[in-house]
Amino acid sequence: MYLIRKEIIINKYRQGQISTEDFFIKLIEEEKKEKRESVEKKALEKLNKLIGLKRVKKVVEEIIAVTLVQKIRKEKLLKSEPVVMHMIFKGNPGTGKTTVARILGEVFYEMNVLSQGHLVEAERADLVGEYIGHTAIKMRNHVKKAQGGILFIDEAYSLCRGGKKDFGKEAIDALVKGMEDNREDFILILAGYKEEMDAFLRSNPGLKSRFPIQIEFEDYNLDELISIGELMLKDREYKLSLGAKKKMKDVIEKNYKRDRYIGNARMVRNIIEASIRNQAVRLKKTNKYGVEDLIYIRKEDINKGEING
Ligand SMILES: Nc1ncnc2c1ncn2[C@@H]1O[C@H](COP(=O)(O)OP(=O)(O)O)[C@@H](O)[C@H]1O
Ligand SMILES: [Mg+2]
Repeated sequence: MYLIRKEIIINKYRQGQISTEDFFIKLIEEEKKEKRESVEKKALEKLNKLIGLKRVKKVVEEIIAVTLVQKIRKEKLLKSEPVVMHMIFKGNPGTGKTTVARILGEVFYEMNVLSQGHLVEAERADLVGEYIGHTAIKMRNHVKKAQGGILFIDEAYSLCRGGKKDFGKEAIDALVKGMEDNREDFILILAGYKEEMDAFLRSNPGLKSRFPIQIEFEDYNLDELISIGELMLKDREYKLSLGAKKKMKDVIEKNYKRDRYIGNARMVRNIIEASIRNQAVRLKKTNKYGVEDLIYIRKEDINKGEING
């Protein structure tokens, strides 16, 4: 890709379309991009490492492929469709929406689609103001902060929660304006529960047409939740003793059966983080810090696991 782009710049310079100064600036920019493109592509690996999410992964791969191909077409001076990358994520809490959004930012950064690839998370309290005009300012600031990356608005429908007297309309108008003013190097993701999201889009048809990409995050099944727990421990360099393994499964299963929709992967994370804290307290008490001691979580470190967000 780098060579094509460099060739285009050289041709432009030869044809007198750009000044010498611009020529060098652009060449340096290309060098930077090339460096970024040649580093190992880590983000896609991260996405694929996530447990389950089969459909999400498929849609994400399509988006990535289309974006890449359109970019190359443009560089080869072929007709290219601008890819609108604003998205809607629908799903219950703990189904991986924020995690996938963050990885997408990294993927698009590695692909040179976004210049920074960072994720700015916001919700109603961050975006809706207290007096007329305040909301527009708050929204504008967040869009600005997310320039070069992704603005992720959780429970987006709550922006117009308060009915007519609320600043909801101002919020939506400001959002639309933000999208129009920032067509490049900016992605907006609206997330939330499926039903609420669908109703929200139905009541704002103007908004709906701006989000061609909608991704549904399904609840995890029990096996996936257990695998997610194992992955979380592995990432943190912890292991479960045999007894702990059985207890962890039991606790996850019990929580899952009690309410399979509340918590999802977040419930698993809470259980794991509590176990890590309990192990730390145990180690401190016994004053034993061998590598094995540090790595292994024992049965007694695992709580029953409360569902709390
Ligand atoms: N498929 C998955 N594989 C591994 N970990 C996951 C997966 N989905 C979610 N997690 C983890 O579960 C936690 C909650 O996920 P999050 O992205 O915050 O969910 P949401 O934004 O939908 O509420 C995070 O720590 C995340 O890393
Ligand atoms: Mg989230």
